[in-house]
Amino acid sequence: MIDAALLDWYDRHARVLPWRTGPAARKRGERPDPYRVWLSEVMLQQTTVATVTPRYARFLELFPTVEALAAAPVEDVLAEWAGLGYYARARNLHKCAQVVAGEHGGVFPQTEEGLLALPGIGAYTAAAIAAIAFDEPAVVMDGNIERVMARLFAVETPLPDAKPVLRDHAASLTPDKRPGDYAQALMDLGATICTPRNPACALCPLREKCIAQKNAIQADLPRKKKK
Ligand code: ADE
Repeated sequence: MIDAALLDWYDRHARVLPWRTGPAARKRGERPDPYRVWLSEVMLQQTTVATVTPRYARFLELFPTVEALAAAPVEDVLAEWAGLGYYARARNLHKCAQVVAGEHGGVFPQTEEGLLALPGIGAYTAAAIAAIAFDEPAVVMDGNIERVMARLFAVETPLPDAKPVLRDHAASLTPDKRPGDYAQALMDLGATICTPRNPACALCPLREKCIAQKNAIQADLPRKKKK
């Protein structure tokens, strides 16, 4: 079972990151605060984990709740975003906080559809929050997860044409139990083992199930359409 092997690996090797609950809390089934999950996913969209980590902590000190963020002047939010780039993210963050605080009583919608209806929340972010904060078996797709799927199933179709097929593969694997840990396990696998170049297949918990590895074509996947 791919999901069981992956969750077992995650329990032993999950990166310790400030927006994640620790292993003990995970075992008790505690979920992280959706405000924090949302903030981390928006920050991580175009910025690396190393850059986001200290900035995430500082942002939360200034704006500890969705209400605090909604009440702040947008200039303060933009100033705090300095250096993170893609300032539309900060504007949308503020707008979304105002909608959650003003129209939802400060409570994030708990479904992927409800989250998608909020300003600035796209398919990736809605799925990530639904899975990580609310334990919904949402299919979370990002570049890392696409690469893992392309290799596991030896998908030779180039990107972006392969996207729907990769998504179908990911959906077929997404478990009902611990979908948030499962999604983050795939992110960690893609970031630390199933890397774009020189993947560390010897350390991979899925190596025996990986068709690309069996056929020694993992370094060639995912293929990309020539521009
Ligand atoms: N990149 C985007 N979301 C992430 C998460 N929750 N954990 C690690 N890396 C990520």
